[in-house]
Amino acid sequence: MKVVILKDAAAVAAYGADIFSKQLKQKPNSVLGLATGSTPVALYKALIARNQNGDVSFANAHSFNLDEYLGLADDHPQSYRHFMNVNLFDHVDIDKTNTHVPPGNAKDPRAACEQYERDITDAGGIDIQLLGIGRNGHIGFNEPSSSLASRTRIKTLTKETIADNSRFFSADEYQPQLSITMGIGTILESKKTVLLATGEAKAEAIKATVEGPLTAACPASALQLHPDAVIIIDEAAASQL
Ligand code: GLP
Repeated sequence: MKVVILKDAAAVAAYGADIFSKQLKQKPNSVLGLATGSTPVALYKALIARNQNGDVSFANAHSFNLDEYLGLADDHPQSYRHFMNVNLFDHVDIDKTNTHVPPGNAKDPRAACEQYERDITDAGGIDIQLLGIGRNGHIGFNEPSSSLASRTRIKTLTKETIADNSRFFSADEYQPQLSITMGIGTILESKKTVLLATGEAKAEAIKATVEGPLTAACPASALQLHPDAVIIIDEAAASQL
């Protein structure tokens, strides 16, 4: 596990964008694993700028997102599919038919989870997986106690995660308590993982990820097993290391 500590969130986004640009230049048809949440937004902005000035192209890339709320349709404003369209896909030259987000409104969600795993395999596996981290150490929606060998499946969100993500929902809006998420085993199979974390609120989770024991109590600690995991954090997120 390589840990890169940078001054602030802007530096974290720029460093992450460099890694993704390099990946796309070396392998234009890369399979990108993508993430939602506030943290990757600045990295996506940097990639949009590099795409628009012709420095990097997504034209031959494929993507698979980590997770989606169960029960939200693609066009729901809080769905992660909508988030990805607004924050990345609508602004770059990616072919949207090559972008994948777990289907939150699948008629048979269990079958959809199995299909998602098959789709990743058929695409040749994920070349580079972007990750954020929850305050409780979750990656994707793999909450604490998730099996380290888990695959794409339905997960119940913890109270803490529901509270953390409530800022995106208005008071009278339905907030899902279930999700479809790639498993930890799925994430560990990607060829490279890049986890971003910024701010003091993530410091405890980062300490557990980097210095703690390998444990299902901190799902991100599973990255200790990954042969090419990079953790890019600002000084505030590194404050407990
Ligand atoms: C959600 C997502 C995670 C993300 C986490 C942290 O729970 N499912 O993939 O890492 O939020 O989000 P933020 O970057 O907004 O702190």
